[in-house]
Amino acid sequence: MDKGVRCWAARVEKNRAEEVRKRLLKLDILNPRLKPFERNGFIYFPLKDQEKVDDILGELNVSVVAADFEERPERPKSLEEILSNKLPRELLDLLPSSYDLIGDIILVEIPHELKPYEKLVAEALMKLHPRVKTVLSKEGATRGAYRLREYRIIAGLNRFETIHREHGCVYRVDLRKAFFNPRMSGERIRVARSVSEGEKVLDMFAGIGSFSILIARKQPTATIVAIELNPEAYKLMLENIKLNRVEDRVKPILGDCREVLKQIHEEFDRVIMDLPHSSINYLDLALEKTKQNGIIHLYLVGVGRDPVEDARETVLKKVRGLGFDVDIFYARRVMEIAPRKSTIVLDLKVKCG
Ligand SMILES: C[S@@+](CC[C@H](N)C(=O)[O-])C[C@H]1O[C@@H](n2cnc3c(N)ncnc32)[C@H](O)[C@@H]1O
Repeated sequence: MDKGVRCWAARVEKNRAEEVRKRLLKLDILNPRLKPFERNGFIYFPLKDQEKVDDILGELNVSVVAADFEERPERPKSLEEILSNKLPRELLDLLPSSYDLIGDIILVEIPHELKPYEKLVAEALMKLHPRVKTVLSKEGATRGAYRLREYRIIAGLNRFETIHREHGCVYRVDLRKAFFNPRMSGERIRVARSVSEGEKVLDMFAGIGSFSILIARKQPTATIVAIELNPEAYKLMLENIKLNRVEDRVKPILGDCREVLKQIHEEFDRVIMDLPHSSINYLDLALEKTKQNGIIHLYLVGVGRDPVEDARETVLKKVRGLGFDVDIFYARRVMEIAPRKSTIVLDLKVKCG
């Protein structure tokens, strides 16, 4: 090996390398700035701290030797750092401060003023996230019954499909064919954690299956009916159910939930209504299909100065008009979707109908 930085190294047989690496990490003595290397069937891990060397010798059953290591290139810490010499100073403040990471794809909205530099910005994002292969720009809002939007490739590979990991589940996602929003991840885990043993759950607008599958994984005694209108999203849901091995408890159904539910004569402990722009139009159906004291997680759009209050008022009026009574026991703004327009979640307990 070329001359590099000389320091103490833990030398271990290749087949024990992963186990030892984890222990060194836990003991906080692995030097992150130097690259481990392999020689003659042994892996050499660079150590931070000479004083701790004797301790690990006994504890891990490894030999400690001096070795020369290559330095890892320093990872940039921010877009600003990467682009500080490449963009006019006044534009640095406009760099996107948030973007979505879906598998190895980044979705970003580039402000108008930065459009001439969008390729530079996208390449900088890829430097910041070395595993990312494609940077897409969101073009317009989500539209139509399937809630799809247009995307444009700014940098990287020409593809819209990836594998996304969330809360220990894996999902195949195809952004051109089916809706998926990683910003709902907090809601998905909140809802999944609130499901009790043996619950029957209805996911009325299931998409690629991300609520249903997570619930099935977190609550192994729950059963979920997952309805989806878009055939492409439904296909992805079928694949995701298999990938996450929950075939026995998630029942996927292709179709319009209003039609599908005419054939299902059971009531549910919990109903998920994740179709913010028009869920309110299906509230009659959800109320009919929820058991007394059952719960509806309703996602809808709230507007104005107090979008949560706006959503609450709309829902109470609608529920009363339908001849039902509910207790709204949880209400929160999930995300802003436009100025003075937000996705709101309301959790309703169905009292009677
Ligand atoms: C906001 S997305 C849901 C995303 C999904 N819950 C997730 O967490 O990834 C709404 C989904 O509802 C589907 N949809 C729209 N109208 C429907 C209907 N009447 N019946 C069933 N699904 C419908 C759309 O195709 C879309 O995939």
